[in-house]
Amino acid sequence: MTRHIPSPLVVLGFGYTGRVVHSIGASQGKAVHVTSRSPLNNLSGIPSEQCLRFDLEQPSTWLNIPAGADLIWCFPAAPLEPVLAFARSLDTTVRRIVILGSTSAYDTSRESTEYPPLWIDESAPIDRTKPRVQGEEYLRQHHGAIVLRVAGIYGPGRNPLDWIRQGRVSPSRKYVNLIHVEDLAAICLAAIEKGTPGEAYNVSDGAPHTWDEICATAQQRWGVTATAAKEDHFTGKRISNAKLRAELSYTFKHPDLYEALALIESGTG
Ligand SMILES: NC(=O)c1ccc[n+]([C@@H]2O[C@H](COP(=O)([O-])OP(=O)(O)OC[C@H]3O[C@@H](n4cnc5c(N)ncnc54)[C@H](OP(=O)(O)O)[C@@H]3O)[C@@H](O)[C@H]2O)c1
Repeated sequence: MTRHIPSPLVVLGFGYTGRVVHSIGASQGKAVHVTSRSPLNNLSGIPSEQCLRFDLEQPSTWLNIPAGADLIWCFPAAPLEPVLAFARSLDTTVRRIVILGSTSAYDTSRESTEYPPLWIDESAPIDRTKPRVQGEEYLRQHHGAIVLRVAGIYGPGRNPLDWIRQGRVSPSRKYVNLIHVEDLAAICLAAIEKGTPGEAYNVSDGAPHTWDEICATAQQRWGVTATAAKEDHFTGKRISNAKLRAELSYTFKHPDLYEALALIESGTG
């Protein structure tokens, strides 16, 4: 259901994604508040009335969150104890919470040996022993939070071609799922408006690639040479974004990894 009365919006954590949420929100005419544990150091350039000090581990700072504000939570929801206490301190009936989780929630010990790996939707088993998954699930089940299970985030300054250049990744048959930070940030805002409280959504561009394929394309198009292939028996995952597309009607700005990489390499995207 789309809401018509705008609530204040607070981005908890002004990091790589939070910055882009703030700038897209501002371009849509929204006054987006942003938080930091150290506002003087990390929020320079943001109008002071939009800056809030917030630290999950310091309850006195929770009072800085405006009453009734919608929240986009951009750091891991852990450890569990302060997550529970902070959520209980909020008037969660009147606000929406979108929290950024990770597709690593699906990394259970029972990884399939099928290849290519099966598509994973939101009904797949998750690893509830992980502290951040416990925090996300608590917020989803008890406070109606919308959990975004996010694939690998890339964009300017987080360039997969640099990961290859630096030897942080190498050719393998393992599948990787990615999402451009501009799409992720816009999806956070769409989830606040149109997401169903208490639901989880996978956030990925919907086009998993193997590192073999990405490294070969990097060599062919940009002359980027990877370090020697490593034997990797992991198959990786293929993350389905069907629910996101159906329920949030979101149109991706960067559906094609290689077009996005060309923009990043040219310094224009
Ligand atoms: N990187 C990936 O590929 C990837 C993939 C899937 C999911 N994710 C998840 O997506 C989310 C956003 O990622 P990102 O890379 O944009 O994050 P990021 O750059 O690390 O930014 C998160 C910000 O949150 C603030 N923060 C951290 N701990 C906090 C705490 N205990 N209390 C209050 N504020 C805190 C920090 O800002 P201050 O120091 O200014 O307080 C930090 O800059 C994270 O939850 C991340 O784990 C990332």
